[in-house]
Amino acid sequence: MNDAILSVRDLNSGYGSASVLRNISLDIKKGEILTILGKNGMGKSTLLNTLMGFVSPFSGKVMLNDKDVTDIKPHLMARSGVAHTPQENTLFPDLTVEDNLRLGVTSDRLFQQRISTIETIFPRIIERLKQRAGTLSGGEQKMLLMSRGLVAQPQLMFIDEVSEGLQPAMVDRMAEVLIRARDELGISVLLVEQNLDFALSVANRFMILKLGEFIEQGVVDDRTSAEHLSAHLAI
Ligand SMILES: Nc1ncnc2c1ncn2[C@@H]1O[C@H](COP(=O)(O)OP(=O)(O)O)[C@@H](O)[C@H]1O
Ligand SMILES: [Mg+2]
Repeated sequence: MNDAILSVRDLNSGYGSASVLRNISLDIKKGEILTILGKNGMGKSTLLNTLMGFVSPFSGKVMLNDKDVTDIKPHLMARSGVAHTPQENTLFPDLTVEDNLRLGVTSDRLFQQRISTIETIFPRIIERLKQRAGTLSGGEQKMLLMSRGLVAQPQLMFIDEVSEGLQPAMVDRMAEVLIRARDELGISVLLVEQNLDFALSVANRFMILKLGEFIEQGVVDDRTSAEHLSAHLAI
């Protein structure tokens, strides 16, 4: 077919009789970060939730490495190497940081092997392994959510507004992590964002989602105009 890890063709999705996504097509190549930008309510989370299998599409096709995953269950999508960092905090606050991380892997041996990846990327998480997740700061909880995805050693990550509510220094840290995940670990990323500066600082390509349809797309380079794109994100 092509060199895409993930190919989406003419995807239509929504809830019951409510149509949210219309004729969505996109490709993600190995080792690239594609950002999907759009205001609240445009369908960004619905797209990730449909691709991950939490929402059943009305029609269309989703291929992961040339395998049809259109109607796959979320746990099988995860087993196929896709990690989903959802917009809402899905940590278990009463479990330790370590136990939350262990949910990302299937065996103790794998966990011990992979924890070193997290140690180089998010050392503060490893320092807090025995602490209850609920006692971490908001920024640290976001780091833990990202770490839980990374510990699964995914080939592809779906990341839903990870910069939301983070201090600027923490947003910079996240940008660094995403670039390392791409460049050092070869992970592809579908990055849903409203924070334009953050998204453009890491992404190779962008697509703008408006009312469930892509209205503009392009490569992120020196000519990409943040000013022009920000018009699509203004309230
Ligand atoms: N579980 C749901 N049931 C019904 N409608 C939903 C549900 N989740 C989201 N929606 C609707 O789908 C549209 C897109 O929402 P969403 O995908 O969350 O947008 P975004 O992530 O871009 O803010 C909105 O109109 C929202 O109200
Ligand atoms: Mg959302």
